[in-house]
Amino acid sequence: MKLRKKALRSLECPEKSGPAALTAFLNGWERDLLSTVRVQGRSRAPRKRVDPDPLDEQSEAPTKGRYMQITSFKDLYIAELQELTSLEGQLGKALRRMAEVASHPSLKNALMHHREQTQVQKQRLESILQKHSANPRAHTDQAMQALINETEKMITMVKGDDLRDAALIASAQKVKHYEIAAYGTAAALAGQLDLRDDQRLLHESLEEEKKTDAVLTKLAKDEVNQDALAA
Ligand SMILES: [Fe+2]
Repeated sequence: MKLRKKALRSLECPEKSGPAALTAFLNGWERDLLSTVRVQGRSRAPRKRVDPDPLDEQSEAPTKGRYMQITSFKDLYIAELQELTSLEGQLGKALRRMAEVASHPSLKNALMHHREQTQVQKQRLESILQKHSANPRAHTDQAMQALINETEKMITMVKGDDLRDAALIASAQKVKHYEIAAYGTAAALAGQLDLRDDQRLLHESLEEEKKTDAVLTKLAKDEVNQDALAA
């Protein structure tokens, strides 16, 4: 807008009309443009270094904008399995951290047992993906990243051992329900593709998830939540 006004002033001035006025204007415009670029270059904030998420095992996962194309039902099934593999990988690390900060010995044991189970479930998924010649690290499950971040936030926020244990169970059960949904979907897709061996393995993991959820519910009702209420 400023340059436009300046140009109009130059061209309107009677003694400066014609080619001389145009040349003068263009010289001034070039000067102004260069100074604007220099000012903008100085005011740009320095780029922040983004460290990799320590909970993310999926170093080969594509970054935003470079996702693989899913063009068939089988592709969709494989993508679900890859998400599940990422989920179990992240959860293995998170469960160790949760067991470390848990106070009730029964909760610590339940979390550590579930961690071992998580490793077996991840191996099951990897064996299925290997059979289909698919890369187990092709996807990162961002929903699980968010759930784990929320868990870490709760660990920091909640004060008192009993209360923290109650919060840990609440967080673990949110994860369980997510896993139950994900395994249920993957097993159903395997069935529709008539992949019966895959379906059987996925059902095994699904039943384990349901059992763990039930164990956590019992632990909360019988022990942990009562202590948290009394605290
Ligand atoms: Fe799991």
